[in-house]
Amino acid sequence: MMQVTGAEFVKSSTEVALCPKANFPEYAFIGRSNVGKSSLINMLANQNGLAKTSSTPGKTQTINHFIINKAWYLVDLPGYGFTKAPINIRKKWENFTRSYFLERINLMYTFVLLDSRHTPQKIDLDFMEWLGEQGIAFVMVFTKTDKLSSGELIKNLQKYQQEMLKVWEELPPIIRTSSEQKLGGEEILKIINDTNKLFKPEVQAKYFKPKLIKPE
Ligand code: GTP
Ligand code: MG
Repeated sequence: MMQVTGAEFVKSSTEVALCPKANFPEYAFIGRSNVGKSSLINMLANQNGLAKTSSTPGKTQTINHFIINKAWYLVDLPGYGFTKAPINIRKKWENFTRSYFLERINLMYTFVLLDSRHTPQKIDLDFMEWLGEQGIAFVMVFTKTDKLSSGELIKNLQKYQQEMLKVWEELPPIIRTSSEQKLGGEEILKIINDTNKLFKPEVQAKYFKPKLIKPE
């Protein structure tokens, strides 16, 4: 079991070219605005307030790098689907977030956060489809599981799996979390620990193949 012994903020960047040197394996946290990305990063890092959280959507507006155990990066990204933001601001976030995924060569896995209280949402399904088309490996992370009963949770997860299987040949790993109750962190850290071993600086993009195959 990997322990988090150190977590430090490195840098906020407004574009991928300004991100820290790509010399460590990197894991991105993305999802709808307010889904709980920053809270989950704080849970994993064992440090409340490391990533800024807020009950108002649209809190995170830049690419934020945190270095864990001086060995790998966690990245907090702006949420998508924040309809209250002005359209030009929204377009700007969307552009640099998409470039981040396309250009960041040390990105090992993307954790796509989904609110476990909701049935499958088009914006999330579309985003995962886009990741798959780009060959970016991802994990589905359900958040805020403390907010519903285990029966409701099972039902929502089943609906998601059914919806995904219409488009995907196989499902990505699925993890249930609650930052409130500190659940699901070990599973995320296990994936990161296993994947860290595959990291080779500079040749990353060439050999790390996506896990999902989209049917013709
Ligand atoms: P943006 O940066 O705006 O895109 O949001 P975010 O995805 O980073 O969400 P954030 O972590 O700021 O959390 C949004 C709100 O949800 C906050 O009020 C959190 O306290 C709450 N929240 C996050 N995770 C959980 C959880 O597991 N359980 C409960 N009950 N509340 C949570
Ligand atoms: Mg945030």
